[in-house]
Amino acid sequence: MSACFAERAGADTLTILPVQADAYDDWLAGRSDAERAWLGATGFEGKAGATALLPSPDGARPKEAVLVLSGPDDLWSWGGAAAALPTGSYVLPREMARDQRLQAALGWGLGSWRFERYKKGSDTARKLVVGDREARRLATIQLDGVLLARDLITTPASDLGPAELAEAAIALAEKHGAKVKVIEGDKLLDKNFPMIHAVGRASSRPPRLIVIDWGREKDPYLALVGKGVCFDTGGLDLKASAYMKMMKKDMGGAALSLGLAAMIMAAELPVRLKLLIPAVENSVSGNAFRPLDILTSRKGLTVEVGNTDAEGRLVLADAITYAQEKAKPDLMIDFATLTGAARVALGTDLPALFCNADAVAEGLVAAGRAAQDPSWRLPLHKPYRSMIEPKIADLSNAPDAPYAGAITAALFLEAFVEDGVEWAHFDCMAWNLSTKPGRPEGGEGQAIRGVFHYLESRYRRG
Ligand code: BES
Ligand code: MN
Ligand code: ZN
Repeated sequence: MSACFAERAGADTLTILPVQADAYDDWLAGRSDAERAWLGATGFEGKAGATALLPSPDGARPKEAVLVLSGPDDLWSWGGAAAALPTGSYVLPREMARDQRLQAALGWGLGSWRFERYKKGSDTARKLVVGDREARRLATIQLDGVLLARDLITTPASDLGPAELAEAAIALAEKHGAKVKVIEGDKLLDKNFPMIHAVGRASSRPPRLIVIDWGREKDPYLALVGKGVCFDTGGLDLKASAYMKMMKKDMGGAALSLGLAAMIMAAELPVRLKLLIPAVENSVSGNAFRPLDILTSRKGLTVEVGNTDAEGRLVLADAITYAQEKAKPDLMIDFATLTGAARVALGTDLPALFCNADAVAEGLVAAGRAAQDPSWRLPLHKPYRSMIEPKIADLSNAPDAPYAGAITAALFLEAFVEDGVEWAHFDCMAWNLSTKPGRPEGGEGQAIRGVFHYLESRYRRG
């Protein structure tokens, strides 16, 4: 069980009373004079997201806690409560419906996350008693996926290179009885992954392709691909320091795909899953790939390197090609911290979604909204293809013009998607720049709860 949950209440467990903000005055009118006086005197205004402890009649100890919600689906205020309430144990009131318990537990869990690998927290955990086993199970499936992603993204590159990313994938595969293989170093050349090798070869930590297979042969084939650039210096076209600083998170796509795979396997979704992670470090060395080098991809398309900092699309392209070789995916989804341009367009909280099938895109956007894990669709605008068509190769990885960078990156990937394959691409930040309720500063499992909701409705039988 997740460390933030407990099964049973103890003697000093406090009940959390959720109250909707628009019903706060009515709720207050029904409480005792002493409680009304207490809340008034402490300046409690009943604003959404606020919590207060209510004293026992003799004032000797807290008896209950009130949590004000913006509405029935307020996930994030539960996350805020998990950080704001004093250390201790809390329980949900008896009369809550299952989906509200699930929401409360999920929000609580998301808000309880701390990254304590290098600095132990001063405060011990708050626990939420979720007696309803099924609500706890469903919340834990999503929570474990998001927290896995957060932990991996927040871990610095010094402790999370291609080898450690592969270790994390192997650990997840073993937990769920999945098959896993790793193609490493020069074997990438023998097995024809030239662009993964080219991007990763300058690092003293060899590049890899991580392959996880799970599920039954007869179920629809779902391919996931995640950008696993464990650190992105920009290569020879080196990033400026302000832009390089955050690049430990450039394996965010890999972390998201692992988190989503964790949900799919834990929920035993009826799919045949293949997860591909090209895991590399984009480094500088004498053998680094260079600007205007021309690479021949696994698919055979030649790619001129306009900029060695546009490395993500190169490693993804070889993995996307491989994903479609033995069988045609029913659906292929990739996740990547691919462009700064997507962040300029949509900011850091909204992943950009690109998709070659309108119904899939609409399903993904709607599911993301319902799961309170939104993304926003941008177009695969065909006329911009000319921006990535250089004179002496099939494709360029970096257009000269500084416009539409997220779109041209997505169009580059689309060139490797076979006809008839439904494909979605998420260009994500995978990071919270500041702490908000339920979303502490650090790595973030963006888009994967929304995608999981979509996959549940697409594939769940009965
Ligand atoms: N990993 C970066 C993109 C990125 C930067 C994502 C900041 C999220 C936050 C990627 O490898 C990159 O450097 N892209 C370049 C591409 C350009 C050279 C065509 C970019 O977006 O500037
Ligand atoms: Mn880059
Ligand atoms: Zn990158």
